[in-house]
Amino acid sequence: MQPSKTTIIHFIASQILFIFCGINPLTVFLCEAMAEASRIFHTTLLPAFSHLHNNRNSHTSFTTFPLKRHVLQCSVSTTNETATTKTTVTQKVIPWGCDIDSLENASDLQKWLSESGLPPQKMGIQKVEVGERGLVALKNIRKGEKLLFVPPSLFITADSEWSCPEAGEVLKQYSVPDWPLLATYLISEASLQRSSRWSNYISALPRQPYSLLYWTRAELDRYLEASQIRERAIERITNVIGTLRIFSKYPDLFPEEIFNIETFKWSFGILFSRLVRLPSMDGRVALVPWADMLNHSCEVETFLDYDKSSQGVVFTTDQPYQPGEQVFISYGKKSNGELLLSYGFVPKEGTNPSDSVELPLSLKKSDKCYKEKLEALRKHGLSA
Ligand SMILES: *[C@@H]1O[C@H](CO)[C@@H](O)[C@H](O)[C@H]1NC(C)=O
Ligand SMILES: *[C@@H]1O[C@H](CO)[C@@H](O)[C@H](O)[C@H]1NC(C)=O
Ligand SMILES: *[C@@H]1O[C@H](CO)[C@@H](O)[C@H](O)[C@H]1NC(C)=O
Repeated sequence: MQPSKTTIIHFIASQILFIFCGINPLTVFLCEAMAEASRIFHTTLLPAFSHLHNNRNSHTSFTTFPLKRHVLQCSVSTTNETATTKTTVTQKVIPWGCDIDSLENASDLQKWLSESGLPPQKMGIQKVEVGERGLVALKNIRKGEKLLFVPPSLFITADSEWSCPEAGEVLKQYSVPDWPLLATYLISEASLQRSSRWSNYISALPRQPYSLLYWTRAELDRYLEASQIRERAIERITNVIGTLRIFSKYPDLFPEEIFNIETFKWSFGILFSRLVRLPSMDGRVALVPWADMLNHSCEVETFLDYDKSSQGVVFTTDQPYQPGEQVFISYGKKSNGELLLSYGFVPKEGTNPSDSVELPLSLKKSDKCYKEKLEALRKHGLSA
């Protein structure tokens, strides 16, 4: 006898929960600012499973289309001039999004956003000095000015309507956590291309976001040899592959042409680098089109948040900008390792005042001054 679809989904959802909540990878997955959300996961999701026994018959349907195969030339050059290596990898390239520095689709995005309720902006998307594309001041911007005002109708959240409602219902019915839910949502909407309401947004997203998810094991081992980020990057990759494995067992619901390792790497890469947590919306996470074009600078201390009075996502400038200057926000006081892990870049050497390393040290019980040293450590808030 074939297991019913509901049973399968129940299994899928419980596996996803295991992967995302079971072994404590959540703290890895969601940056420390999201620790609170993870607590909510643990307390509200697991019990919810016990009363999910209604046998609703749900089915999903996706339009299918071929994935293109491209040959990418990747070259890795090291500081040792004699040891430049070149590798050729055959890799599936996702058929949506654009080049990370492309401005072609950016103007379509801006047009669509204005038609969809984004108020007139003092910034525009341009090629920039720091990075590939960014928001650049078009007018004089004062210090202390509120910018953006992206209305909630333009956010992508766990509650966004699915173009393919059956798929969304199934995942929601089993309380799949926000991250895998959003990753699946993005792939599903992207695969619908023009018929998704997000098609202008998705075609302006990078086809390959900067992300450690695209590094090979050899690259992680080599370039992050002495860094604690190496373990965390491997764990993230393992989690993404784990999510994919579960979906790939059910090709009827999640066809492999659409839900595969490349598309999951893409969607998680997009989430890691662009998802924002909005403290004034009870810490809910959202993709905020337009606002996510702002790059990070270690020199500013202004964050995106929902502004209740203007009912939109804003930030308040902490410095003035002249027309033509790139405008920045802060992605948080993160070490270079954490910036690399989530956003795939490292600020210029010596420019990050929040850079830090963790130094695990131990104290021997046999140490003559064990008690005194322990006391001294405790006094300074360190555990032994
Ligand atoms: C660079 O690589 C070559 C060959 O692998 C090696 O002989 C040489 O010692 C290396 N030089 C440095 C500075 O690491
Ligand atoms: C985005 O740009 C690509 C070329 O990079 C083009 O084929 C596609 O039609 C554009 N999409 C939109 C929505 O303008
Ligand atoms: C953001 O800025 C960093 C440098 O601080 C740069 O390496 C990166 O490419 C930029 N990202 C984008 C998407 O432009």
